[in-house]
Amino acid sequence: MGVPLPEKLQPKNQATRSPKPVHGTSDFVVVSNRLPVDRVADEQSDAGWRRSPGGLVTALAPVMAARDGAWVGWHGAPDETLEPFHHENMDLIPVPLSGDEVELYYEGFSNSTLWPLYHDVIAPPEFHRTWWDAYRRVNRRFAEAAAGASARNATVWVQDYQLQLVPRYLRQLRPDLRIGFFNHIPFPPPEIFAQLPWRQSIIDGLLGADLIGFQRPNDTANFLRSARRFLGASVKAQQVHVKEPDGTISHIARAEPFPISIDVGQIQKLAADPEIIARSKQIREDLGNPKTILLGVDRLDYTKGITHRLKAYGELLKDGAITVEDAALIQIASPSRERVESYRLLREDVEGMVGRLNGQFDTIQNTAIRYLHHSYPVEEMVAMYLAADVMLVTALRDGMNLVAKEYVAARNDNTGALVLSEFTGAADQLKQALLINPHDIDGLKATIVRAINLPKAESSRRMRSMRKQILAHDVQRWSEDFLTTLQVEAVRDDG
Ligand code: G6P
Repeated sequence: MGVPLPEKLQPKNQATRSPKPVHGTSDFVVVSNRLPVDRVADEQSDAGWRRSPGGLVTALAPVMAARDGAWVGWHGAPDETLEPFHHENMDLIPVPLSGDEVELYYEGFSNSTLWPLYHDVIAPPEFHRTWWDAYRRVNRRFAEAAAGASARNATVWVQDYQLQLVPRYLRQLRPDLRIGFFNHIPFPPPEIFAQLPWRQSIIDGLLGADLIGFQRPNDTANFLRSARRFLGASVKAQQVHVKEPDGTISHIARAEPFPISIDVGQIQKLAADPEIIARSKQIREDLGNPKTILLGVDRLDYTKGITHRLKAYGELLKDGAITVEDAALIQIASPSRERVESYRLLREDVEGMVGRLNGQFDTIQNTAIRYLHHSYPVEEMVAMYLAADVMLVTALRDGMNLVAKEYVAARNDNTGALVLSEFTGAADQLKQALLINPHDIDGLKATIVRAINLPKAESSRRMRSMRKQILAHDVQRWSEDFLTTLQVEAVRDDG
């Protein structure tokens, strides 16, 4: 490829000094920006940590237990260095970040450069050299921690856009490792990716992996087009022959789609739990038993199309197509990246809209939109899914959207309607959803009305078919598919 590799940067202060790479003992190492645990205030629970909710850790925990696994990631607090610790059969290796690095690497390059750039530039990405320097430095630190934890010939699986340089650094440090990478968010077309001043280094970083996974076939194609265009890589049958600076072939990197899923078993089990079913009835009751409950569940992020959804809903109230007596919209918006400017602005927009709409349409008895700026435990989420007749997923761009899959998994009785943006990865699998373009407000309004009035036979036919898809493709299968492909390719290379 001939691209100069990002040079090793000296650590700036004691708190963030990188460990020297040494061989470790783990045969399987996962690397992600965040460790899969949250700190709990309650001192009674296991060492003050609780496993984070979410499919990834559920899928990987059994692999970890079986293969003496380790997880490398940031523990969420700035300026704090923690020793590795053990939690529920996993070795957790915390990577320290200074306050400056949280600002430059996490809020800056990851979430104000890459996140908007990779999501169709819905918000304008910012390009700052100081952010890029911090991104390189922190990626190097994660790679060194992973190298230090890995046994000889171990498998390392790097997760997501915050760590795209880790595969390359890791291969330099430990050529014996088998390296996988999975991008949880979209990969943009080369016409947009071209804006990034460091586009060659990012592609080169990813090509350090043996297998690079994406959510959709389109993301995979975008990446391969960028590899060809910006690095002159020769791409054949989704494979790139990665060259050393002297022109010899170092390895073959393969790019493929692996659409992620959810822990279907857990959601189904909760959806059948009598206490959760009772709670879902209580929610309906508390809302005054309206004919229809509509639900939106999102991180408060500008990619999720929350303002588009509110605009459509507000117009339906104005038109009289929906009344607050007959319908209630619950919008859960969980707090996210609150120190990033575009997220602060979005919160103001959303809360302004909700306030205006409720001011205009509420009655003493009924509220047009129940807006909840909280996160909830999975049990309460499943109760909401059971209470909701219509689920609204109107993302402008989304790598996958697991909320859509969770709603489908929770609907054990095949009722309910899913309105789903075609700009989500989930739309590839949930073809029987009512698909919408969230920019088309008239189309969105018509589809919401259609969802509310969907004949029982039709909604049940659609839900049955979506459930069949989801039940056959849970997150365990996703991780098995990825890791099997990674190993199969290893055998092929060796043979
Ligand atoms: C998306 C990303 C994840 C990220 C999550 C929450 O799903 O793909 O990598 O962890 O958002 O965002 P946060 O910035 O709070 O980690």
